[in-house]
Amino acid sequence: MTKNTPTTDNFPPGFIWGSATAAAQVEGAAWEDGKEDSVWDAFARIPGNVLNGDTPATAVDHYHRMPQDVALMKQLGLDSYRFSTSWARIRPGGRDVNPKGLDFYSRLVDELLEAGILPWLTLYHWDLPQGLEDAGGWANRDTAYRFAEYAQDVYAALGDRVRHWTTFNEPFCSSLLGYGSGVHAPGRQDPRAAVAAVHHQHLAHGMAVTELRELGAEQIGITLNLSNSIPRDPADPVDREAARLFDSLQNRIFLEPILRGAYPEDSLKDLEPFGLHDLIRPGDMETIGAPIDFLGVNHYHDDLISGHPDTSGADGHGGGGARPKASPWVGAEHITFPSRGLPRTAMNWEVNPDGLRKLLVRLSQEYPELPPLYITENGAAYDDVVSGEGTVPDADRTRFILDHVQAVGAAIEQGADVRGYFVWSLLDNFEWSWGYEKRFGIIHVDYQTQVRTIKDSGLAYSRFAAAARNGN
Ligand code: NOJ
Repeated sequence: MTKNTPTTDNFPPGFIWGSATAAAQVEGAAWEDGKEDSVWDAFARIPGNVLNGDTPATAVDHYHRMPQDVALMKQLGLDSYRFSTSWARIRPGGRDVNPKGLDFYSRLVDELLEAGILPWLTLYHWDLPQGLEDAGGWANRDTAYRFAEYAQDVYAALGDRVRHWTTFNEPFCSSLLGYGSGVHAPGRQDPRAAVAAVHHQHLAHGMAVTELRELGAEQIGITLNLSNSIPRDPADPVDREAARLFDSLQNRIFLEPILRGAYPEDSLKDLEPFGLHDLIRPGDMETIGAPIDFLGVNHYHDDLISGHPDTSGADGHGGGGARPKASPWVGAEHITFPSRGLPRTAMNWEVNPDGLRKLLVRLSQEYPELPPLYITENGAAYDDVVSGEGTVPDADRTRFILDHVQAVGAAIEQGADVRGYFVWSLLDNFEWSWGYEKRFGIIHVDYQTQVRTIKDSGLAYSRFAAAARNGN
């Protein structure tokens, strides 16, 4: 196998080839049919929070263009579409159920099934109803109970047609970025609130798993954003300690409560000054450790970690958004991300496909309790241009996706039980604090006209998936 001739050999029959989006990034219709503000609507209104003053109010108008978007998925031959439901649409303000909100997702699911596409539903992709944030948000334990109720509402409406249920997408971001660094909504910079958000999202996950299971759901999981933590100099104890801290905050405080029902001992010690012990009530860890059926892995880049000030002049981690404000690394603000001089995407993230193979193999080796894995996000932002012929020749993204898919294949060959891959994203969309400036889609969107154009990467991904499906 060479880099230029991607092999389809390693993917088992039934491997799912999909693509993903999230409600706040694509839907728009921010106040239509009863929907009220999510934290992202409110956060984006404050000048300086989102690049260029962009907001999710219109996004790519998927709320109104959903049938057309499903037709594009069908044209690409996707097996599955990963989307999220908007809590602020389904329970505006966190209050009563809004039937019109549920109806949108019911129509989406019907449209998908009609097109032969498996719906892969995420309940929380960062858009807390602002009404619940006003009551304390994820720093308030009560929000976890409200989440479990909302999960039941969605299951009651869609459980007859949706088989795959994901509780949270990347709780790292909606806790440590949202409440610690302030780069994400709700924009708080309070390390104790950030740690409380971590615990309460875990609890919300565990309660929802239990409720969904009782209601009859068979495939329930969570999606984590995981990264290799590579000490810059493995012989240097300062770098090794920084890498341990990063691994704890990025990976293990999420993986271990969920897979083992316990926080890692070292993380408990690290986070004691921020109140983690006091948050844990009897029974919480059993709830959080409720068995899951799959683990979603989102991966974009891995990280070289140092405990020394960065003198490379080029942060290999690429920063956290439009206006990095504070560090999300609670108690480990000193860690740095030296550059390895690798090529970078438009997010300034280093490109290292083999990191994905290593991560998957490590997970499989270190966690005997690991359920089947799905890559629920992987992809890249590049500055795309629509050509005179109406095509989008995005060679860098095409290479990125095919190289990462190869890395997944190599991990499977080495024993990782990976059963699907979802490219991020189906459509260019609202990239959080970067607004519309960063394009991740395999389908280009002209934000003035909302015209969609399948990029070359979308065509290449579609061809690769078809070849893998046909076993050649
Ligand atoms: C992960 C998030 O889940 C998604 O919403 C985001 O757009 C991508 N990363 C790219 O940053």
